[in-house]
Amino acid sequence: MTKSAPARPILIAGNWKMNHGPAETRAFFRDLRVPELPSGVQLLLFPPALSLAAARSELEQRPEGFPPVSLGVQNIHWEPAGALTGELSAEMARSAGASHALVGHSERRQLFGESDEDTVRKVAATYRAGLIPVLCVGETLEERRKGSLARVLHRQLDAVIGPEGLRTEIATGPFVLAYEPVWAIGTGETATPDDAAEAHGLLRAHLGERLGRTAGDGIPILYGGSVKPKNARELLAAPEVDGVLVGGASLEAESFAQIAAASVSPQG
Ligand code: 13P
Repeated sequence: MTKSAPARPILIAGNWKMNHGPAETRAFFRDLRVPELPSGVQLLLFPPALSLAAARSELEQRPEGFPPVSLGVQNIHWEPAGALTGELSAEMARSAGASHALVGHSERRQLFGESDEDTVRKVAATYRAGLIPVLCVGETLEERRKGSLARVLHRQLDAVIGPEGLRTEIATGPFVLAYEPVWAIGTGETATPDDAAEAHGLLRAHLGERLGRTAGDGIPILYGGSVKPKNARELLAAPEVDGVLVGGASLEAESFAQIAAASVSPQG
């Protein structure tokens, strides 16, 4: 499979989910050895919000020349502040050092009842606070088997870029999309590069239709779902795949570094 040189940045992102408190976070960054990366490659980690400060202080102490690592939060509430026990706002995340926020991760949608409408409010909140939203979309196995891939992806995307959504803000950017097929998350089951290329192609075409070709082409689309050091290179080489969002394999510094290294010379 061949791929022409992408104009978009390549993002190697790790979502730690509910893993790694402050002590493990410090250890992770002390162990992290990343190869020299091409200028278009960016590293991004989503630790638990409670570990953001530890991540930030470790990163500040890294030797000169260590590749920059951006930090994000895994979820936000759309209100800036208020009587919402247990929640955190985009503004708080920003002031704690986050530059990105995940929105609409399938675990939030499935386990915590996050709706398409919630994702719109959350994306709006990220822009208000100066965070970059990373919107996650993806189909369940049942939806895939029923042939509903395109319908599900269009619905999840249209919630935020459709007429009632945030089309103008997203067209102006920055905005990151992550395709995470639910059946491939934490299952060891990975989409093939062809599966990823098909879904990313659908998303790219829909972005172009809604936002115009130039704006649509500028949006990075990451693949997530059982990305491992052994399959990262071929997934990164698939057409329209502009990076990866890694769960389990981002928890160990060594495997995250190996996945980052796969971006240096993806198969062409
Ligand atoms: P796994 O890589 O563990 O399948 O998780 C993917 C994911 O949900 C990233 O957000």
